Amino acid sequence: MDVGRLEDTFLPLESKKKTGSDTIFTWYGRYLQAKALGEPAINGTVGSLLEDDGSLAVNSVVMDSLRSQSDVDFSSYAPLPGLPEYKKLATELAVGPRLASLHDIGLHSGAVATPGGTGALYLSARTMLAVGDTILFRSRRWSPYDTLAAECGLSITEWPILNEGNGHAKVNHLELESVLEDIATSQKRILSWLNDPAHNPTGISLDSEGRDLVLDAFLNCARNNPGIGVTLFLDTAYAVYADEPYGWSETIHKKFSWSEWPENLLICWGFSASKSHTIYGLRCGAIVFLHPSEDYVNRLGEVCAVTGRGTWSLAPRLPQSALISIHGSETEAHSWGEEKTRLKGLLSKRRAAFNAKMAESELPLMPSDDGYFAFIPCDDPVAIAEKAAESQLYVVPLKGGVRIGICSIASSQVERAAEILIDAWRCFEQ
Ligand SMILES: Cc1ncc(COP(=O)(O)O)c(C=O)c1O
Repeated sequence: MDVGRLEDTFLPLESKKKTGSDTIFTWYGRYLQAKALGEPAINGTVGSLLEDDGSLAVNSVVMDSLRSQSDVDFSSYAPLPGLPEYKKLATELAVGPRLASLHDIGLHSGAVATPGGTGALYLSARTMLAVGDTILFRSRRWSPYDTLAAECGLSITEWPILNEGNGHAKVNHLELESVLEDIATSQKRILSWLNDPAHNPTGISLDSEGRDLVLDAFLNCARNNPGIGVTLFLDTAYAVYADEPYGWSETIHKKFSWSEWPENLLICWGFSASKSHTIYGLRCGAIVFLHPSEDYVNRLGEVCAVTGRGTWSLAPRLPQSALISIHGSETEAHSWGEEKTRLKGLLSKRRAAFNAKMAESELPLMPSDDGYFAFIPCDDPVAIAEKAAESQLYVVPLKGGVRIGICSIASSQVERAAEILIDAWRCFEQ
């Protein structure tokens, strides 16, 4: 039977546009194949943190807590917006220790449980913009951002991830301000996703000066356009593995201790327990809101819960109850924190070795500060990934460059991986 004809018969245009197996899984598959053939293959493909022996890094405190939950927590539905204690906890985990000070200056927070951080991204796109609107992203991003935008019927506007000109190296605030103004003149609302700190796929984290410039751009846009709702969504999926996990809360607190928060500005966090609690597959996350109106925060919770109900029904209860148990016990929270610190140490050690080796070459690695990944911009990412694979290093060719999973390469193989990449890059880019 002709699949094309069947597609024409069954699928509307929106569905027919959907193509492509996931590049990351394709290259991971190639790594596995090489391993199975007995090759000394190095795995730089996956987006999960692996121990130096190649096994998945798993925080045992979380596993123990999951196994000790009651039958009801295994089996029952959670309330549509999430277990009340979990909503409070997810807010604390996303915003960090500054939460109380933010409440003290008159801000209110709220949350809705979601299936992972992806669910939080989806809820914001689906509820804060209308079909046909544009969403603002940085020029380099986790590719599911594009899929989510397409699923929500949104077009994409970009601002550059690095600043080539004068000023802050990572924030081209003039460009950001101009893009925000452009959007404000053409639609009723603005939504922008910012994956920081520990950006996927580069590892870039903004410093306090960079965060301040970004926040000012959104604040100014809100002030200049009082009729436009301006939402800055902070995707902090990798934050616990960054040197400043809660830097945004510091920046926001500093800013609004002195200045008035315009009522048309909303800040959201996308909380994800996938990496922080090593439960990628359990789909545990939340969208967290911060705004001066308590009533509006509650209303947003209601709207998002309805969108969730009509999309995935509700978020799984088991991981919510496990997180409540862990963080409700000083001992368990401490043990979880110790393991998280060990895992962060593993990433820092690998990254330091990788960056040091790269710095010995002329290769233009993008700044790689924190988190799971590093990124080499290049004209022909597939050629470089293929060349690296000839030397048994498997990385992921993406649009505009190759992604290296620092998270999945054993510490002892990091230098070798960097050498292979430098050689591969020299073959094509000089
Ligand atoms: C940039 C970014 N944002 C959000 C997520 C959300 O992950 P999850 O839906 O598993 O919580 C990921 C996961 O890989 C990510 O890389």
